Amino acid sequence: MLVKKGQSSKGSLGVETNASNGCRKVAIRPVTANDLQNLVDLERECFTAEAYTKGQIRDLLEHPNAVAFLAEIDADIAGFVISLVEGFEGSKLGHIVTIDVAVKHRRKGVGLTLLKAVEDALSQSEARTVYLEVREDNISALRLYRKQGYVKTEILENYYSSGIRALRMMKQLKS
Ligand SMILES: CC(C)(COP(=O)(O)OP(=O)(O)OC[C@H]1O[C@@H](n2cnc3c(N)ncnc32)[C@H](O)[C@@H]1OP(=O)(O)O)[C@@H](O)C(=O)NCCC(=O)NCCS
Repeated sequence: MLVKKGQSSKGSLGVETNASNGCRKVAIRPVTANDLQNLVDLERECFTAEAYTKGQIRDLLEHPNAVAFLAEIDADIAGFVISLVEGFEGSKLGHIVTIDVAVKHRRKGVGLTLLKAVEDALSQSEARTVYLEVREDNISALRLYRKQGYVKTEILENYYSSGIRALRMMKQLKS
């Protein structure tokens, strides 16, 4: 079962792209089963108490509608994103479940590159809209999402176990 971050304890497809961040290349590739432990470690680095567990991440990656990418800089794992295609034929939605960038690789364009890659893949899977949830006090993520065109659609009270609210944000994808 898929649970939200902070609740109790949180096949890939895709494109291969390279994006220049000015000095180093961010290489994007689909996540494989061999990446699991690295993703778990990165998730803990990014979210500590609210981190998805190894089992939850495995379940997400094994979900038939999962779309997940990993970012590397010079073969070092810099970040990852996991999303799901939800809904039905003709009304599909992309749900970005988690996006994590290693502390040492932040502000290099990794998050933005992952977001663009997953949006492209969701669009190819015929999702017309993409949505996500974000802590209302997560300034860096909120700025990233706004920069990429996401708008707030809903406030979710007590979304996290800490009692913190989440914002639901949404973006229309180009067909
Ligand atoms: C949020 C996160 C994914 C951003 O990743 P990143 O690779 O550092 O982001 P980018 O370098 O691609 O930044 C893109 C834009 O996001 C915004 N941004 C990112 N980090 C920011 C920060 N610390 N302060 C302010 N704005 C920030 C900026 O608008 C930035 O554009 P700019 O560099 O031209 O100003 C990263 O900080 C992270 O992993 N945080 C912990 C996990 C998390 O909160 N994930 C989101 C859960 S909803």
